[in-house]
Amino acid sequence: MASRPDLPPVVRHVEEVRRQLEPLRAQGERIGFVPTMGALHPGHLSLVDVCSRECDATVVSIFVNPTQFGPNEDYEKYPRNLQKDLELLAPYGVDLVFAPEVEEIYPPGFGTYVEAQGVTEHWEGRSRPGHFRGVATVVTKLFLIVQPHVAYFGHKDYQQSVVIRQVVRDLNIPVEIRVCPTVREEDGLAWSSRNAYLSPEERQQALVLWQSLQLAQQLIHSGQQDPRTVLAQMKHLYDQHPAVRLDYVGLVDPDTLLPVERITGPVVALVAAWVGQTRLIDNLRIEPPH
Ligand code: PAF
Repeated sequence: MASRPDLPPVVRHVEEVRRQLEPLRAQGERIGFVPTMGALHPGHLSLVDVCSRECDATVVSIFVNPTQFGPNEDYEKYPRNLQKDLELLAPYGVDLVFAPEVEEIYPPGFGTYVEAQGVTEHWEGRSRPGHFRGVATVVTKLFLIVQPHVAYFGHKDYQQSVVIRQVVRDLNIPVEIRVCPTVREEDGLAWSSRNAYLSPEERQQALVLWQSLQLAQQLIHSGQQDPRTVLAQMKHLYDQHPAVRLDYVGLVDPDTLLPVERITGPVVALVAAWVGQTRLIDNLRIEPPH
């Protein structure tokens, strides 16, 4: 009988991460890093998989970061299950899991934040004030703690990946950012830790996000260049799903995240919507025909 792989070692303190990684760094090992908030799903595991193939050592952080949640958001109820996460990570030969307590990251007297301007102004930044300040701050801290050569993020949080690229560029943080494809369930729903909140009925309704992105893709692939027409058709689809409350749809330049005036090059279609009490986001990069 095949034996079960060992659980990865967990460390709770910054100094311990430094101590454990120092010899690997000294040997010239390429250190890869996957920051997460736990509640791991196949999307996270695909990042860990790529990281473990591309790097000599893989570090995963599990930290539900309070500063990226608004006062009325789901920080308290966000799913936490470290034991299950460690079991999911076991087959990937993860070298270190950093799972700090909140006080380790934000000790008394903490008062320094990273605020990326420009790309944070629209979309998630507008709907979730302060969210990207929390993300940029914790990711910068984690980069300084782990000092990875490369860090892996999912395309699903597309705006987050653009914000992090900007932070790394603006602050000269020596880390390569890799953005990996969104992983979807069989019917197209993007994996998200928040899918766990959905009732079976809501889970069905949530498919409209992916359907609206596919509709945008079909229209653009068939030559539609006017973003207003594409957005109107996408919104029309949401009108047929009254249980889903659209927050925004956008067709944006992949680098600036500004809405495009005409679809003559690659765009990213962005959507955010409430399904019951659960807010979901998704996106799709779309290339117009030549
Ligand atoms: O994408 C996430 O899970 C989080 O925003 C991150 C990058 C781990 C920062 O808390």
